[in-house]
Amino acid sequence: MYSIERANEYIQANKHHVTATYQPKLHFIPEIGWMNDPNGFVYYKGEYHLFYQYNPYDSKWDTMHWGHAKSKDLAHWEYLPIALAPDQDYDKNGCFSGSALVVDDTLWLMYTGHIVNEDGSISQVQNMAYSTDGITFHKIKENPVITGQQLPNEISRSDFRDPKLFEKDGKYYAVVATQHLDQVGCVVLIESENLLDWSFKSIFLKGEQNQGIVWECPDYFEIDGQSYLIVSPMQYHSEYLDFNNQNSNIIMQGRVDWQVGKFYPSNLKEIDHGHDFYAAQTTKNADNERVMIAWMHTWGRPLITDQLQHGWFGSMSLPRILTVQENQIIQKLPESLDNQFVKVELNEELKQPSKIEIDIKETIELKLGTKEDYISFGYDAFRKEVYIDRKNLKYQLIGEERNPVLYRGVQIQATHLTAYIDQQSIEIFVNDGQEVLTSVFYIEGPKKVYSQR
Ligand code: FRU
Repeated sequence: MYSIERANEYIQANKHHVTATYQPKLHFIPEIGWMNDPNGFVYYKGEYHLFYQYNPYDSKWDTMHWGHAKSKDLAHWEYLPIALAPDQDYDKNGCFSGSALVVDDTLWLMYTGHIVNEDGSISQVQNMAYSTDGITFHKIKENPVITGQQLPNEISRSDFRDPKLFEKDGKYYAVVATQHLDQVGCVVLIESENLLDWSFKSIFLKGEQNQGIVWECPDYFEIDGQSYLIVSPMQYHSEYLDFNNQNSNIIMQGRVDWQVGKFYPSNLKEIDHGHDFYAAQTTKNADNERVMIAWMHTWGRPLITDQLQHGWFGSMSLPRILTVQENQIIQKLPESLDNQFVKVELNEELKQPSKIEIDIKETIELKLGTKEDYISFGYDAFRKEVYIDRKNLKYQLIGEERNPVLYRGVQIQATHLTAYIDQQSIEIFVNDGQEVLTSVFYIEGPKKVYSQR
């Protein structure tokens, strides 16, 4: 029923019916339909390739395909044909999230086949596909390459997804999301010598009781020889300003014992403190830099462009380069993207993607939007808190969280903010990227950033 050809034809025939009102200019969005997680983010033959969880047929989540696009500068994207469609028994209810790895000019993908069995139970298995031209992908005959049956009994078979491939000391690995039967999130490590035969290696890291029930979309990487693990926990318990979104996105620094395949975290934090940042994935570019991109939404929130029948939903965050300074992760836009934002001052109408720089000496409260429809953001010098508050938006974005998450903040001594504003989003970088807050909004009419007073 589903195929790459059918999806491509549908997109070409219908993409002109999409309403552009809230479409950003410098954030990646789908041509038509629904998009969630970034997948297979990779640098291949001089270009960034981005795949994404995609339902071309509606602006709501449904049977997942992998959309595909590429970019030279991370600012302008070219759409490519659909990479994967759910057309096999082993992925019949969706090609779920996964990742890419380049080996000798071949672009390999590993993704989750989502299967709803006849009795209604769910199986999730891992599959591989490859391409030598970066456009056409071939699913391999060995699929599925690993199933839940190969996991230890203490791990759920229905939550086994989102493999992130990497190579380490001549061996291939993937970290994969699972749920431990203790009802906590858990990342497992699988290994392979040849990318075709995979086996379970170890429980890489098991979460604690308050740290969420499934750790989706893991990513393992190293910067300056130091190990990092990203996960997207469902239902991480809220702690004052942190983890307030129903689905959070965290980064852990740690140490790995590769003999036993275990990650020992030494610290943990939310990657982004705004309302909309999930399923972050990284890749390495030609300059050996770690670049991260995330879904600029999170689950359980109203889908405004779907409700308005605009024919699309979902945007990616701005890609960010991760570096480490004084043992802290710093996020920074690549220059090729930063250059595209026009510098504006307070009270200036925002006509295109804009960047505003704010030096902080005392408490400051700013509004972004129109007089009646705006978000507030700023710095509370007494509490040492940078925040974004969505309570004054016309299109309220209250989600499934027990307490409505209108206000999000982060404790930090702030001296400088840089805010990147596109048609429907703001990304606030604090002190040149020590912390970031990312949130979306849907505001009609000409927008400005203006002061409270
Ligand atoms: C995360 C996620 C993944 C899954 C995909 C399905 O947002 O739930 O765990 O593979 O989305 O679209």
